Amino acid sequence: MAVRRIVNYPAEILEHKCKEVVKFDKKLGKVLDDMYDTMIEFDGVGLAAPQIGLDARIAVVDIDDESGTIEMINPVILEQQGEQTGPEGCLSFPGLYGEVTRPNYVRIEAFDRKGRKYTLEAEEFLARAIQHEIDHLDGILFTSKVTRYLKEDELEGVEGE
Ligand code: CO
Repeated sequence: MAVRRIVNYPAEILEHKCKEVVKFDKKLGKVLDDMYDTMIEFDGVGLAAPQIGLDARIAVVDIDDESGTIEMINPVILEQQGEQTGPEGCLSFPGLYGEVTRPNYVRIEAFDRKGRKYTLEAEEFLARAIQHEIDHLDGILFTSKVTRYLKEDELEGVEGE
């Protein structure tokens, strides 16, 4: 178990297009394990590698439902549909929450830690979390999509990514 330090905004790495992973080795597995531990430690539902200072297209998502932990390496969005608007936060912006509109459905392709390609479909909150994390890998922060920032009394049950 290793909890990494989270990079908070502003930081150059957070607004940078991350590099593709080319080596699916033990080190990658360790990074994924540490990212999971870090996400859990800080009560997040997702975490992207640049948020722990790594220039790599790696993200984890776990919204604590039956989907379990989703590990995404070099993820690509294949399809997006619909629209949803809801509250969003980010572990790199402690205490900041806002309403963000995103596609309601997403279909992605990514690799797992062993280098096996998979596709995944998601809707609603899971789709939101996945798209938030993939945005991180392109240096896109949720603040660029916030339509309205939320006040403390509107934050019941909102989690960070
Ligand atoms: Co985030």
